[in-house]
Amino acid sequence: MVIKTEEELIKIKKVSEIVGITLKKMQEYAKPGMSAKELDEYGGKLLKEFGAQSAPRLAYNFPGNTCICINKEVAHGIPTENKIFQEGDLINIDVSAEYQGFWADNGASFILGKDLQNLSPLVETSKRILHMAIQRIRPGMKINEIGKLIETEAKKAGYRVIRNLVGHGVGNSLHEPPREIPNFYDRLNTQRFAKNSVIALETFISTHSNYAKELNDGWTLVGDLGGFVAQHEHTLLITDKQPEILTYMNGI
Ligand code: CO
Ligand code: CO
Repeated sequence: MVIKTEEELIKIKKVSEIVGITLKKMQEYAKPGMSAKELDEYGGKLLKEFGAQSAPRLAYNFPGNTCICINKEVAHGIPTENKIFQEGDLINIDVSAEYQGFWADNGASFILGKDLQNLSPLVETSKRILHMAIQRIRPGMKINEIGKLIETEAKKAGYRVIRNLVGHGVGNSLHEPPREIPNFYDRLNTQRFAKNSVIALETFISTHSNYAKELNDGWTLVGDLGGFVAQHEHTLLITDKQPEILTYMNGI
């Protein structure tokens, strides 16, 4: 959405804070031995206390309040009871919500406890690239320039990017124009970032895979060539200077 009034600005900031705080608290709450369902129920309780609704549930009838992935899962992981966290797991939590008609989205990959799989370089690279990309965005800039930056930086660090998962516009709904903010240089994408628009920028930095494919549960995505993927996502307001990070409360 493009922000036109002070009231819209206040509300988009509020829902962004809600998802940011929820993501941070869920990350702190996750412990070895806990199930993804238990963590998701905690997240659902927090959203409810804020008066917000789970966006994936509301928009897509997703079977959970939040998306939770472990290890080889890339995105849209269902928070089930039989998904039990272990020390050293790569976990991704993606929290998006609706509050008084406004929507925000954020996500983070992190390692639970000790880094037993040596994945902190992947996680740190994803975070670093997200911030580098955020600092670069200005109104009028081509969206594919950001894709180019993300892909180039990932390759420099020895990684790949997932090509069929993308950032997106957000605000009046969970996914709205610009519908595709890819992690690679798409020369056919001639769209530009608009001033005062709200977007969800997200990385998908990968050790092996180039594409995400769906498992037969109808939701969970894994890499086509296996390996691990780290994702970090912020909701941003595009301004003449650096974008304002509306989900800063998540601490990424
Ligand atoms: Co998103
Ligand atoms: Co998200």
